[in-house]
Amino acid sequence: QHKQRLLVVANRLPVSAVRRAEDSWSLDISAGGLVSALLGVKEFETRWIGWAGVNVPDETGQRALAKALAEKRCIPVFLDEEIVHQYYNGYCNNVLWPLFHYLGLPQEDRLATTRSFQSQFDAYKRANQMFADVVSQHYEEGDVVWCHDYHLMFLPKCLKDYNHKMKVGWFLHTPFPSSEIYRTLPSRSELLRSVLAADVVGFHTYDYARHFVSACTRILGFEGTPEGVEDQGKLTRVAAFPIGIDSDRFTRALELPQVQNHVRDLRERFAGRKVMLGVDRLDMIKGIPQKILAFEKFLEENPSWRDKVVLLQIAVPTRTDVPEYQKLTSQVHEIVGRINGRFGTLTAVPIHHLDRSLDFHALCALYAVTDVALITSLRDGMNLVSYEFVACQEQKKGVLILSEFAGAAQSLGAGALLVNPWNITEVANSIGYALNMSPDEREKRHRHNFAHVTTHTAQIWAETFVSELNDTVVEAQLRT
Ligand code: UDP
Ligand code: G6P
Repeated sequence: QHKQRLLVVANRLPVSAVRRAEDSWSLDISAGGLVSALLGVKEFETRWIGWAGVNVPDETGQRALAKALAEKRCIPVFLDEEIVHQYYNGYCNNVLWPLFHYLGLPQEDRLATTRSFQSQFDAYKRANQMFADVVSQHYEEGDVVWCHDYHLMFLPKCLKDYNHKMKVGWFLHTPFPSSEIYRTLPSRSELLRSVLAADVVGFHTYDYARHFVSACTRILGFEGTPEGVEDQGKLTRVAAFPIGIDSDRFTRALELPQVQNHVRDLRERFAGRKVMLGVDRLDMIKGIPQKILAFEKFLEENPSWRDKVVLLQIAVPTRTDVPEYQKLTSQVHEIVGRINGRFGTLTAVPIHHLDRSLDFHALCALYAVTDVALITSLRDGMNLVSYEFVACQEQKKGVLILSEFAGAAQSLGAGALLVNPWNITEVANSIGYALNMSPDEREKRHRHNFAHVTTHTAQIWAETFVSELNDTVVEAQLRT
């Protein structure tokens, strides 16, 4: 049986390129939830279209890279340095990303951002058009085109302008904020209209979908229906499609000898201490400083735990050209240094902070040896790290402390200890509760989480979205 062709269009390809020589490239797996979820999708004949994360000004380089990427079924969109600066660093990551996560800019950056807004928005539109051009070169009749995330809100409109018969879906991997927040965006109407050109628009949670519909009714005056958004008889389907992970990939990995060796090493290294774990891109939305301050408070108030617990924080570098991210890095380093200075001994420190990514097997081993995972996002679309941790905990049945502001709080709420990450007293108390939790309670909570994570997979997420898209297009044809 032949599989349906799916064109996945995302700013970030699943592999990022590093140049080795004039015509030679090496490819590394990209970080982030979007990539890991979509890599778990196997039902379709998938092609990826996106940016490889590097500037390639010369034709030799472009040709060689396109060839290397083709082996991974990836098609590059080449963006020059100026576009990346204005579109990716500027509009996407300094305007949309903080706004969608309810995080304001610091006072000193606010005016500068306001001033550069128009040129960044123009670059955003240009970049989206460049993605559309590449899609149109590779599109075949019957293909499903699935656009992803806040980088490509303009793309559905560009694609429909090119060919109104194309089946176009758009999915947002971040929260969609309350319309009260969204309406401060200068380009608010144009962006909504472009997204609405898609046939199906998807979000992780019902709340985000509802926020989007109210933005459309309040700002554009369109009609919100249970199905979606309607404008003069034209319906755009809007719904929640909660993402998941490929949980088998994790449970299988834990059986591998190299992962088990790794687990043994880690157990030895941290023998006699409880292991707490954080895995985040080094991003303001993850609440890393808040998490570390809560851990400090816990150590302060519980002297007997000081040499019996360690916090391992993996902070994967991300968007390092954006000043906000640079500031966050030094802020986190400063706090970690201070706390390790305060509570460390000659032989041990309470916080191991790593500014780097881990390979998949090392990550699985780390999830498996963890007693308490600590996820304190200030806002987070879903947060797949929480799912991955749960998938690796069949043996240990560790505790998940999870921010109530992560989308995952809606699905893992009954199994996790939910916290308000802004309240470090509450988080510190939850750390104590988690470390002392009875095996019975841990088991019960883990069961709940594990059942969810293994049944709500990335595969099912993608299938549900794509079949909704196929159905919606058929229904629209019937109506006309
Ligand atoms: N991850 C990674 N490299 C690492 C550590 C983690 O790629 O060194 C992955 C992790 O396994 C997870 C993703 O990055 O799948 C993070 O997804 P999440 O939804 O938690 O947050 P996002 O980064 O998308 O905001
Ligand atoms: C989040 C976003 C993704 C993005 C990822 C990594 O998960 O939703 O779209 O790819 O972060 O960020 P980056 O800027 O490196 O692509």
